[in-house]
Amino acid sequence: MNPSFQSPSFSSTCLDGRTALITGGSGALGQVMVARLLAHGARVVNLDPCAFPLALPLPLRARLVSAPVDITDERAVTEFFEQSCVVDGRPHVPDTVICHAGTVLPGGFANYSYTDWKKTFELNLNAHFLVCRAALPLLHQTATAERPARLLFTSSWVGQVPWPGNGAYSPSKAAIDMFAKGLARELADQHIRVNVLAPGIVGAGMALKQWNEDPSYRQRARLAIPVGQLQTAESVADATLFLCSRASDYMTGATLLVDGGASLYPMI
Ligand SMILES: NC(=O)c1ccc[n+]([C@@H]2O[C@H](COP(=O)([O-])OP(=O)(O)OC[C@H]3O[C@@H](n4cnc5c(N)ncnc54)[C@H](O)[C@@H]3O)[C@@H](O)[C@H]2O)c1
Repeated sequence: MNPSFQSPSFSSTCLDGRTALITGGSGALGQVMVARLLAHGARVVNLDPCAFPLALPLPLRARLVSAPVDITDERAVTEFFEQSCVVDGRPHVPDTVICHAGTVLPGGFANYSYTDWKKTFELNLNAHFLVCRAALPLLHQTATAERPARLLFTSSWVGQVPWPGNGAYSPSKAAIDMFAKGLARELADQHIRVNVLAPGIVGAGMALKQWNEDPSYRQRARLAIPVGQLQTAESVADATLFLCSRASDYMTGATLLVDGGASLYPMI
């Protein structure tokens, strides 16, 4: 990773004055996204039951706060936002909300458990409904025509392309894609942009776990990426930075596919 956490493609001040709230910011991709947002000037509120794992330089660390909110818990989510996202006694009003936490519980259809189906949808879809509904009043406080607020979702290329054996994961990501489009339409005239980032197969986090543990996944994943290499977490962080920056002000209802061409192939 770039030791300064910055992307060479964006100014180090492009997110100055912005406050981004992210769910799942302590995970394999989330931590790199958080570091990127901080390195470009944003304040970040990280909602994750796990502590933020990266060592950050002090000026970046000073702009990060974390709260161990379980985003599947309706009461916890509602109270956190109703109290203006108070962390360590201080309120934080986000102008950017990144619904990023997610899970994959792999398995073929024939033996897939209903428990895993419900767990996947609970985090990958229902929790983001709770977060968006609770965050909306705060986004309205910050949104103006000159400086729109933002809702961003992390989906996946397999939200549109089937990947055998990933259980409820693809359906849950397809659902988030459509949830985002509906919100984009509904909130467009309220100066809130809603977009989706669809990464490919990343050499970190949940995909790396499957790559390491399941030889058939590894074999299929190797064949599925036209550019011939796994995506990096930094690539996902750069796309996130773009979608949080003024450069994407005119985008809403879009899904930004950054997948090394994986979705170009028919599934093997
Ligand atoms: N890794 C990949 O290849 C890949 C590819 C495409 C999309 N994605 C998406 O990126 C996102 C993150 O993936 P990752 O690989 O970094 O996963 P990860 O498992 O490393 O991180 C997930 C994070 O979510 C947090 N989390 C789990 N349950 C939570 C809850 N109830 N409340 C709040 N936070 C909770 C976890 O503590 C963890 O820090 C997911 O939405 C995933 O679908 C990942």
